[in-house]
Amino acid sequence: MFDNEELYKKAEDFITICYAELNKGEEERQKRMEQIHSEIVNTATYLHTYEELEHGAKMAWRNSNRCIGRLFWNSLTVFDKRNLQREEDVFNALCEHIQFATNGGKVLPTITIFRQQTNTTNSVYIWNHQLIRYAGYETEHGTLGDPSSISLTKKCEELGWERDGTDYDILPIVIEIDGQAPKLFQLPTEIISEVDIVHPQFDWFKELGVKWYGVPFISDMELEIGGIRYTAAPFNGWYMGTEIGARNLADQKRYNLLPIIADHMELDMSSNASLWKDKALLELNIAVLYSYKKVGISIVDHHTAAQQFSHFEEKERKADRDLTGDWTWLIPPMSPAVTHIFHTKYNNKKNNPNYYYRKVKIF
Ligand code: ARG
Repeated sequence: MFDNEELYKKAEDFITICYAELNKGEEERQKRMEQIHSEIVNTATYLHTYEELEHGAKMAWRNSNRCIGRLFWNSLTVFDKRNLQREEDVFNALCEHIQFATNGGKVLPTITIFRQQTNTTNSVYIWNHQLIRYAGYETEHGTLGDPSSISLTKKCEELGWERDGTDYDILPIVIEIDGQAPKLFQLPTEIISEVDIVHPQFDWFKELGVKWYGVPFISDMELEIGGIRYTAAPFNGWYMGTEIGARNLADQKRYNLLPIIADHMELDMSSNASLWKDKALLELNIAVLYSYKKVGISIVDHHTAAQQFSHFEEKERKADRDLTGDWTWLIPPMSPAVTHIFHTKYNNKKNNPNYYYRKVKIF
């Protein structure tokens, strides 16, 4: 028995699976565990090798029960930025990540991993939910922009950031290190790709002036590998169309575009039973997929994504791993019962490594 026995146990669980998957022998595993043991005894923590970090981040994706895109877990590019200490350097690494992952439109699943947490006051935090995200404002005439960003936007303005006041103002990046005052950085516009949403048949659609950014970079989740927490580990895949067309742009509490689209389509909005919402939703989603394809930014429709997920299920079976999944998230928000996922039961057990929502409230 020794202090930090719990950390050692978690490390052992991880190293055992990781080394087996990387085809390392028992001897190597034991040697590594002895190293980790003395490191934990001496420093109360331990450092991952690059190989462990890379495979751990991939396993964490594979274990993400809510993600329909997990077929591609092994293609994740992992940038190791654990050596960075200054906010400016973290910001530059984020810009590099955005450029690399956007890749001129052929999106590459990527994660950048910053310094691990040693205790709760010793951490790197990115305040933003995503690296690229639109601001949201409450005004006298209702909300402007993305309502899901209202509280972060307020904070940014308190910290001196100035709004343009459009529906699509890109928020600055807010970086906090070791409990010091957060620093704000504006992303250079050249590295941000955005897509104007147009419709293949409805000419009037472009006049709505709707757009969305090309790639979702989640920056508010923590990566846990073998008992070690990485509080800043932003990652991205490519979009599934419904995330934008059936949620971001359609939710009543987000951009709420169904009424205006239905109005332009001259649908009978006086009765629910005309299914005007469903018709508008369908056309909006057609427009999203069409627009991303048109400008050449990777996107997947929910039918193809579900088929890919079924390949993932098959591969996990063949690898003799128990598949875990969260049905409530895996089903797409449009036509769910048209996919096999709707008709399948999933075990929602949380395995490690994994990505977690932040425990501490940081703003
Ligand atoms: N649903 C989030 C959004 O609409 C993005 C979540 C991650 N999505 C992804 N395709 N990797 O912005």
